[in-house]
Amino acid sequence: MKNKLFEPKTFKLNELMFLGEAFLLENNIENSKKEIEWFVIDRFQLKLEDVKLNNKKKISEKNKFFFIDFIKRRSQGYPFQYILSKSQFYGYDFFVTQDTLIPRPETELIIDVAKKYGFFDFCLDIGTGSGNLSITLLREKIVKRVHAIDISEKALLVAEKNKKIHGVTEISFEKIDFLNYNFRKKYDLIVANPPYITKKDYKNLPKEIKSFEPKIALTDFADGLTFYKKISKNLPLILNKNGMLIVEIGLENTKKEIDFIFRQPNFILKWYKDLNNNYRALEVVHSC
Ligand SMILES: C[S@@+](CC[C@H](N)C(=O)[O-])C[C@H]1O[C@@H](n2cnc3c(N)ncnc32)[C@H](O)[C@@H]1O
Repeated sequence: MKNKLFEPKTFKLNELMFLGEAFLLENNIENSKKEIEWFVIDRFQLKLEDVKLNNKKKISEKNKFFFIDFIKRRSQGYPFQYILSKSQFYGYDFFVTQDTLIPRPETELIIDVAKKYGFFDFCLDIGTGSGNLSITLLREKIVKRVHAIDISEKALLVAEKNKKIHGVTEISFEKIDFLNYNFRKKYDLIVANPPYITKKDYKNLPKEIKSFEPKIALTDFADGLTFYKKISKNLPLILNKNGMLIVEIGLENTKKEIDFIFRQPNFILKWYKDLNNNYRALEVVHSC
C-alpha cells in the first residue's frame, strides 16, 4: 500500500481526495471521484461547495482515520452503501446493513406501477429486507397499511429502524418463512422482489455482490422460480377481488416461464419494462 494517502503528513482534504481517488481507480473502483465526494459530504457534514472549492483546509486526525478506513474498505470491494449504512430508494434514504439487500433502482418500478392505480388499503410485502418498498408505499400515500414479512430476523430489525426513521406507523413486521406459511389474511396489494437468482447463476455473481450481500436475499438455491410458483399458488387465497400483485423479475429470459406460472383463470397479467428497456415487473390483477 505505497501511497502518500497513508503518510502521517497528509491532512488537506483536497490532497486526500485526490490520492484516495487514484488509489480506488488503481483498485478498479469506477465512479470513485463521485463516491469520495458523497462520502466526505455525508461523514464530515460538508456542503458540495466546501468539497469542490473550499477544500484546502486540513481535516482532523479522526476524520482522516475515517477517510482512510473508507478508502481501504472500498478498495477491497466493500459496497459504498454498507460503508455509509445508507442507501437511496425512490428519493428516500434507508438505513442498510449487511443483513439487508442494498435497494436497487430498478425495484422502484414496483412503486411506479402501484402509483398509477392510486390508493390501496391493505398491502403485503413479501421479503421486505430494509423495508424500502413498504415504507415508500406509505410515504407516497399509495397504501394505508402494510404487513411486511421476511425470514431474516436481522433484516427485520433494520426495517424496524427504518420505520422509526421515516416516522410511519401503519406497518407491522413479522418473521415468516413465506415458503412454509399458510396465510389467513387477504390483501388489496401484494408486492415482492423475491430472491430470484438461480443456484447456478449465484456462483457467477460479481465479488462485490456475492461477498457482501446476504445470500438468502439473492438466490432461492434452486431454479430462481420457487417464490413465483408459491405466490401464484397462494394468489386466489390471499389477494382480494380487484386486488393487485406486483412482482419484480431478474433476467428477461425468465419472463416466458414466469408469465406461464401466473396464468390462471380470473387473473389478468401486464408486463412493464425498466429504464434499460428490460422486462422487469409483472402486474397480476384479480379480475372478478
Ligand atoms: C431480493 S431481497 C428484497 C429486499 C427488498 N424488498 C428490496 O426490494 O430491496 C429478498 C428478501 O426476501 C427475504 N427472504 C428470503 N427467503 C425468504 C422466505 N422464505 N420467506 C420470507 N422472506 C424471505 C430475504 O431475507 C430478503 O430480505
